[in-house]
Amino acid sequence: MPEQVQPRKKITLPYLFKKVADGEPITWLTCYDYPTAYLQEQACIEMILVGDSLGMTMLGYESTLPVTMEDMIRHSQAVRRGAPMAFVVGDMPYMTYQPSVEMAIRNAGRFMAEAGCDAIKLEGGSAMADRIKGIVEAGIPAIGHLGLTPQSVSALGGFRVQGKSAALAKKIVDDAKTLEKAGAFAILLEMVPDRLCKLITERAEGCIIMSLGSGPHAHGQLLIYHDMFGLYPRFKPKMAKVFGNAGEVILNGLIAYHDEVIGKQFPQPENWFRMPDEEYEELKKMLD
Ligand code: KIV
Repeated sequence: MPEQVQPRKKITLPYLFKKVADGEPITWLTCYDYPTAYLQEQACIEMILVGDSLGMTMLGYESTLPVTMEDMIRHSQAVRRGAPMAFVVGDMPYMTYQPSVEMAIRNAGRFMAEAGCDAIKLEGGSAMADRIKGIVEAGIPAIGHLGLTPQSVSALGGFRVQGKSAALAKKIVDDAKTLEKAGAFAILLEMVPDRLCKLITERAEGCIIMSLGSGPHAHGQLLIYHDMFGLYPRFKPKMAKVFGNAGEVILNGLIAYHDEVIGKQFPQPENWFRMPDEEYEELKKMLD
C-alpha cells in the first residue's frame, strides 16, 4: 500500500509549480465517477482529468465526439464530490470551444461554476491560442493539449504517434510556445516522441509540461484510468501500463455470482433480514 496522507491539503496551482521547481513529478489520472475519485483521493493523486474520453470508457461510444457539456458537467460534479482536495480539470468536449472565443469562455465557466473544477483543458495548437487567451483572461486556468488530439483523430489519420518527422515536431514545438504565451499554465503532450517532449519541457518557461505516452522527461505523467486496470474492453494502448487487472477480478466475481444464484448458494442467512417470530405469527393471523 502506498503511504496515504488523509486528509490532505487542497492541491493548488502554487503547489503544482512548487513540485516542478523541486523537480518532483506530478501525478495525473483520468476519472469520471464518485467511487473512483474517492480512491484516487485516498491514493493522493494530485490532478484528476475528467476527460471526454468518458464517451468511450464510460458511455461506449466509438469516439469522444458525441460527448456533450451535460455529460461532462454531470461526471465532473461526481468526481469533485469524491475528490474534494484533488486539482480537478474539466475537459472541454468537441465543438464546445472550437466555434468561437465567447463559446469557449462560457463553457469553460460552466466547468468552474457548476462542477467546481480547478481548470479546463482543450485540444489544439496555435489555432486555439485565442480560446486559451480568452479563457485565461476570464480568470480560468487553462491547459493545452498537443500531439495526438482525439477530437481530431480523423484529420490525424488515426490514433498514432505525432511529430515523428522534424517538420511536424517543429510545428508541435511552435504550438507549445504559442499556447504558453497565450497563458496556458500547462500543456499535455499526448503520444509524441520522448525526445520531442524533452525539448519542449526544457524550453518551457513557467508552463508545466505533462506527458501521456510521451516519455519520462515531462514535469509529470497522465494515464487513462481504465487502461491501467483492464477496464476498457476494446483495446489497450501501448503507452498504458496495467497496474492491476480489475476487469478480470470483476468478471470472475460476476461469474461466481451468476453460478451461486443458479446453484442456490446465494443468498445465505447473513445476506438477508429476519422478522421476529411473534410478529410473523401475528402477520399470518392478520392475513388469514
Ligand atoms: O479525454 C481524455 O481523457 C483526454 C486524454 C486522452 C488526454 O483528453
